[in-house]
Amino acid sequence: TDEPLVLGIETSCDETGIGIVRGHALLANTIASSMDEHARYGGVVPEVASRAHLEAMTPTVEAALAAAGLKFSDIDAIAVTAGPGLAGALLVGVAAAKSYALGLGVPLYGVNHLAAHVAVDQLEHGPLPKPCIALLVSGGHSSLLLVPDVASDVISLGSTVDDAAGEAFDKVARVLGLPFPGGPHIDRAARDGSGAAITFPRGKIDDGTLDFSFSGLKTAVARWVEAREASGESIHVPDVAASFQEAVVDVLTRKALQACRKYDVHDLLIGGGVAANSRLRALAQERCDAAGVRLRVPRPGLCTDNGAMVAALGSDLVAAGITPSTLEIPADSSLPI
Ligand code: KG4
Ligand code: ZN
Repeated sequence: TDEPLVLGIETSCDETGIGIVRGHALLANTIASSMDEHARYGGVVPEVASRAHLEAMTPTVEAALAAAGLKFSDIDAIAVTAGPGLAGALLVGVAAAKSYALGLGVPLYGVNHLAAHVAVDQLEHGPLPKPCIALLVSGGHSSLLLVPDVASDVISLGSTVDDAAGEAFDKVARVLGLPFPGGPHIDRAARDGSGAAITFPRGKIDDGTLDFSFSGLKTAVARWVEAREASGESIHVPDVAASFQEAVVDVLTRKALQACRKYDVHDLLIGGGVAANSRLRALAQERCDAAGVRLRVPRPGLCTDNGAMVAALGSDLVAAGITPSTLEIPADSSLPI
């Protein structure tokens, strides 16, 4: 085919992700993570992440090229996450992307991390319906987007006013004595509990906005646990995990479907690390079926941060004839959608 080969670079948080695509065909998706180095701090340490990206960049690019059976000179365009994310971490990826683009004499595309989380689904499920609604939930973001065209037109409908959904999972896991990152541990523990055991608050549930709030919920869970511990009562971790999880996914799915209704959109995409949550997937499917909305969720390896999502969006930008970025493009930690 004559579709260009695009190499994507993702360094907005703790993952050094390199992806290679041709059109929407995925050829490589190689990841180096510094999560083990952050785990003992109970959260991602920006300085540690930046240094790890610097060390991982060249070997990860080489591993991706090898996995795809390609040479560097085969690459037709470079795409890189320009933001939002950790400033120092983004800077490593953007600097690498500029030098690769300059060295190869190929166009450079700085892309928005959130739009890339949406674009990646096409690698698995084909072209995105236009428009679609996207719910992006991870440790760093919780957003609802209206997506008429992922390459050129992505509109923010709402986002969290405090903690991200994944951040709430991680903080509540800590309260329950589960390891970091806590999302998968809560998901697992919750399978042995009841989501109806304890009624935790659902922040902003019917406030008429498409924004989220999870810090009140996190505090409510902590207070509930403290009160039981102070009175010497034992707590049933699976019930607390399941009830907390139910509160989060109830709000996420309810607002996502409110967005579909409000904008008369019949396709919902869920992405980001929290999209791996089994209860979120099940409740979203149930509510989408009831509302006549088609649901798309990429496989877990494409939901968490990776380079393929950046390459996928880069490929769309090339196809749409969007003007490439200049070598002056900055890394922007708060890049708006
Ligand atoms: O997208 P991601 O890998 O990185 C960013 O934060 O950008 O998302 C990581 C987040 C963490 O907060 C983690 O606890 C959460 O996704 N997570 C989950 C599950 N798997 C990962 N949360 C709930 N249930 C899960 N199964
Ligand atoms: Zn992300």
